[in-house]
Amino acid sequence: MRYFLTLFVLAVIGVVSALGFRGDKSRKPPRMAEIFPDLNIQPKLRPQTVTKFDGFADGASSRVYPVGTVAQKVGFLDNTTWEDTAINTGRDAKGFVDSNPVPVTSELLKRGQERFNIYCQPCHGAQGDSAGGIVKKLGATSVANLQDQRIVRMNDGEIFNTISYGKNTMMGYAGQVPVSDRWAIIVYVRALQLSRLGAKDDVPAPVLEKLK
Ligand code: HEC
Repeated sequence: MRYFLTLFVLAVIGVVSALGFRGDKSRKPPRMAEIFPDLNIQPKLRPQTVTKFDGFADGASSRVYPVGTVAQKVGFLDNTTWEDTAINTGRDAKGFVDSNPVPVTSELLKRGQERFNIYCQPCHGAQGDSAGGIVKKLGATSVANLQDQRIVRMNDGEIFNTISYGKNTMMGYAGQVPVSDRWAIIVYVRALQLSRLGAKDDVPAPVLEKLK
């Protein structure tokens, strides 16, 4: 009986410690991370926290920019601000913007074609229908078809958001594709869609004559 009680108490402690803390929130990595650490445990300082490092007299983990530092222009747009404008976020007060806030020019379209073929084509294919993408050929079946009605109807702001932050299994390209190029790519994606959806009536009469 004594053994039974000891085992019983141990079992209760075991069950409670294994299951009782489920759902608790913690900033520490999960316990399993200590068995298979991967990169979960990193000696690093979070920005804007306190550090005990003696080198920093103010005790703050991050340094303040030297006086006179100016933000650099990234891409070809003149938007060096970090403000939440439609160009920077793809959103306005009502939500995702309907259409591209950047003036559409043939240069923008060309730039978009070039950037699309570098950053999107490997997965989504040169036509955007994901058929020709090498990633699809290698077996990734979940790549979205950009010719899909759902994406055709999706507003430009939401596509901007997908390029910036990714969607489900697609990762974001904010690091590689600056804001200006994201809008350029969207112009090109729309052109790809139009190349399939265009009707005879869209062709100007003189050009139509020649086509016949
Ligand atoms: C590494 C492969 C890969 C690359 C590169 C890639 N995508 Fe994707 N993309 C995907 C996959 C996979 C999905 C489907 C994600 C899901 O819904 O599971 C997707 C989905 C999308 C969608 C649909 C999102 C939605 O709301 O359903 C859009 C739009 C899109 N991609 C645009 C782009 C553009 C533009 C680029 C180039 C900047 C790009 N993708 C680059 C893999 C990729």
